[in-house]
Amino acid sequence: MKKFAAAATAMLMVLGGTAFAQTHADREALMKANGQIVGSIRPLVGAFDAAVLKTQSQALVDNATKIKAAFGPNSDKNDPAASPTIWTDAAGFAAAADKFIADSHAVMAATDGPSLQAALTTLQGNCGGCHKQFRVQAAPRPAP
Ligand code: HEC
Repeated sequence: MKKFAAAATAMLMVLGGTAFAQTHADREALMKANGQIVGSIRPLVGAFDAAVLKTQSQALVDNATKIKAAFGPNSDKNDPAASPTIWTDAAGFAAAADKFIADSHAVMAATDGPSLQAALTTLQGNCGGCHKQFRVQAAPRPAP
């Protein structure tokens, strides 16, 4: 039975494949992109460029919007990097994701270097804040 369940899960993962960002690999790609996009926005504090900000912050908003689906109710809950709290406190996780989206919009709304700096500082508080509560960085949890 256990073997069957494992095989079924593996098959579902293959079928689900690229349709949903719900596996550890998809989450990893999503999060790495968050870091890369923020990295591409930071230099604009010193050399403000409205056009670049518009493109990059739109990418940030799009990325932030994918977080909830990446940890949806039917996604992989056996991901050792994802805290079970994501699903036991789904409302709390959704609130953290929504705040990140809102703060991404604030980055987009920046009009000069100083306002961008302030928006980025607030935005980056989301990374550590959410990780502290919902990410597991220690050794993988034993299988349940
Ligand atoms: C709403 C919650 C939330 C927010 C906001 C968030 N993260 Fe994450 N992040 C997670 C979770 C949960 C994981 C663990 C995901 C996994 O590997 O399954 C993670 C993992 C990561 C990882 C590790 C990926 C890997 O290689 O395994 C990086 C890097 C990362 N986040 C960067 C960021 C950055 C940079 C920001 C802010 C710009 C950010 N995250 C914002 C929840 C969040």
